Amino acid sequence: MRVFLDNAATTPLDPEVIAAMTDAMQNLPGNPSSIHKEGRTARTAIEEARKTIANILNVSIGEIFFTSGGTESNNTALKCAVRDLGVERIISVKTEHHAVLHTLDCLKKHNGTEVVYLNIDNRGKVDLEHLENLLQDSETKTLVSIMHSNNEIGTLNDLARISEICEENNAYFHTDTVQTVGYFPLDFDKIKVSFATGSAHKFYGPKGIGFLYINNDNLIKPFIDGGAQERNMRGGTENIYGIIGMGKALQKAVDNMEVRMAYLHDLRTYLMQKLTENFEDVRFNGDYDGNFHPKVLSVSFPPSAKAEMMLFNLDISGISASGGSACSSGIDVGSHVLAAVGEGAGRATIRFSFSHHNTKEEMDYLTEKLRKCTPVKVAAAV
Ligand SMILES: Cc1ncc(COP(=O)(O)O)c(C=O)c1O
Repeated sequence: MRVFLDNAATTPLDPEVIAAMTDAMQNLPGNPSSIHKEGRTARTAIEEARKTIANILNVSIGEIFFTSGGTESNNTALKCAVRDLGVERIISVKTEHHAVLHTLDCLKKHNGTEVVYLNIDNRGKVDLEHLENLLQDSETKTLVSIMHSNNEIGTLNDLARISEICEENNAYFHTDTVQTVGYFPLDFDKIKVSFATGSAHKFYGPKGIGFLYINNDNLIKPFIDGGAQERNMRGGTENIYGIIGMGKALQKAVDNMEVRMAYLHDLRTYLMQKLTENFEDVRFNGDYDGNFHPKVLSVSFPPSAKAEMMLFNLDISGISASGGSACSSGIDVGSHVLAAVGEGAGRATIRFSFSHHNTKEEMDYLTEKLRKCTPVKVAAAV
């Protein structure tokens, strides 16, 4: 038995997405930039996917740019804002994904961009008064970069409120929505953002394809020089099959959003109950009973001789989970997110992240296997 509980790292391809991509691979051989029939047919398929994504986010078609994924989209937004929009200061949070944090390090080092981190509490919630004060106290051209959902602990940020604060203070707003596109309704006509990012493999689409939303008011120069693709902004023949797969996956995620989200909530609550009933000194990280993404449950177990080997032992038992963010798995550097919220020292932290394919039986199986890895409650030790 294999139980995949690492869906914040990536999700399996939806069979309908595979079918749409396979069909395109077989029937759309043309280069979308060619003007003959094969080219025009391929172009039409790309533009249909762009329209699907734009409609879902309630933005103009020309505001969606295809990229290789969340990392490229975040890099592009932040680097182009400094290069082309005169941004001299970026305000962000230490719990952002490395695709943002390492980009900020790079901008600081090579462009002299001032980088300021906001205070957060021990659930990873951002201090919005701190943000307001920083913006009110300075005339420096500023971009605020705050993610929607944290990928390790699932804490959600209030995009509507952050957007208002940015608008009131004339600041640009970039948000990494990689974990929430396809899970939460996102309406960028209502909630004004300058940039937002998405990645298909987080919502049952293919890996290596994503998008960047750039609000029309922001005049960015090309980010990859070459051909005239992506309205001159990103040269290179498009990843047509990835784009088609992403459009299909996002449409399906949105069509099934309510049902899938209710299912995730239920499953997560079930696992929380099981863990609390069965194990000693279990802690949940992030804003776990407040404003959270139901896809993610970060759990800390007490220090024990077996704690260090927990992930390894679960894997051997057929369960895939993660020790933090998947993007740094394999390199034991500890989690910057858990460090930022003050959790983790000596304790074993595991991120379980769910999909609508997971079942309560799988949660029972996980609980059973965990009993061999961490102290069991006396009453439950039957
Ligand atoms: C919040 C967040 N941002 C960005 C990324 C990077 O996305 P990609 O894998 O598409 O480059 C991830 C992937 O884990 C993520 O969780």
